[in-house]
Amino acid sequence: SGTGPVRPHGPLPTGFKSFATEAIHVGQEPEQWKSMAVVPPISLSTTFKQYGPGKHAGFEYSRSGNPTRNCLEKAVAALDGAKYCLALASGLAATMTITHMLKAGDGVVCMDDVYGGTNRYFQRIAAEVGLEVSFADCTKPQLLKAALKPNTKLVWIETPTNPTMKVVDIKTCADLVHQHNKDIVVVVDNTFMSAYFQRPLALGADICMYSATKYMNGHSDVVMGLVSVSRDDLYERLKFLQNALGAVPSPFDCFLCNRGLKTLHLRMEQHFKNAMAAAKFLEADPRVDRVIFPGLPSHPQHELMKRQCTGCPGMITFYIKGKLEHATAFLSNLKLFAIAESLGGYESLAEHPAIMTHASVPEKERNVLGISDTLIRLSVGLEDEADIIEDLDQALNAAVSANNELLVNQSTCQPSLREIGPLVKH
Ligand SMILES: Cc1ncc(COP(=O)(O)O)c(C=O)c1O
Repeated sequence: SGTGPVRPHGPLPTGFKSFATEAIHVGQEPEQWKSMAVVPPISLSTTFKQYGPGKHAGFEYSRSGNPTRNCLEKAVAALDGAKYCLALASGLAATMTITHMLKAGDGVVCMDDVYGGTNRYFQRIAAEVGLEVSFADCTKPQLLKAALKPNTKLVWIETPTNPTMKVVDIKTCADLVHQHNKDIVVVVDNTFMSAYFQRPLALGADICMYSATKYMNGHSDVVMGLVSVSRDDLYERLKFLQNALGAVPSPFDCFLCNRGLKTLHLRMEQHFKNAMAAAKFLEADPRVDRVIFPGLPSHPQHELMKRQCTGCPGMITFYIKGKLEHATAFLSNLKLFAIAESLGGYESLAEHPAIMTHASVPEKERNVLGISDTLIRLSVGLEDEADIIEDLDQALNAAVSANNELLVNQSTCQPSLREIGPLVKH
């Protein structure tokens, strides 16, 4: 399998030697352009001249097909070991387009711990228009099996989950669903792992989708969704829906995402290396309660992760010791990491799920999922490993000393104690 980085699972679809070579060359052939451009041009034209009515060179109108989008879709299909890929305007646009394959009365079983926007889409939009939506903990395949009904048409899996990093056994779940009914479409949201570390189609899923906003583009400058599929019938339906619903990305965004893919293998290897170093540092630190990173042997599904994936992205969650104040002081004192939502870019980001990304999840549900006040999520970027660790270390220090001071201030602010004045010393 070539000399490049270890290729993730599955047969080579194009005759190329390695993931890296495919990411750089598939769909990018200069011969497709009259100019022989080595880098695919940004094709902004919304319409394409026809030789005669209905006789065209492959493109008619940019919503139904665009040359720059075409380059991106071919490259992603190759990386996923898929026959086809379709690019959509966002990850949620991809979710919506896939779900439009169903009709009122059909059933969806969704992993209980999915991205909040996916949960909101299924509960507040799909269910409202007549789909029967239920949720199951797919880390326990018997619970998924119990949730399947005669009308189930779609099973939606996300792995690892956000932010609690639960790993779902894709092959076991896909086999189980298909044994129940081979026509049920199994979708895996592969956003966290990217095509480089995990290939759901080779593990039995029917559709692999991404919020390409994250690692696939990797530069925090594009919002996009991607859907890879090998079944001809599913592709035909999805291709129809891509055009008929119209949630397509702009040619410029396609250009950027296509460019981002050229370094996906390099970026993911470095995200993994940096995150592993940061996770080990945090796990050994007495100011930290618990680290959740599938790459660490302490992760409860570490062995499954090793079987199913060829590495881990830069996503780490950890519980800081103390209370909410410790978590917020830690975040406020980070210098290299920016406090921000989203993930998967070259820059390190940190966030507080209970206050930020998962605020819409009711507190009771957050508690069940383990999204407590002391939980912090990191998206470890591509900066120097030592600088990343130094930043985490100084922010942990600052969190501890800020809270020591807070204790002093809180005590000295209490009127009764203030009256006592100088006697109160900590
Ligand atoms: C795992 C996952 N799936 C889907 C989405 C939705 O993607 P988008 O924001 O591109 O619509 C996100 C966004 O955060 C995500 O993290």
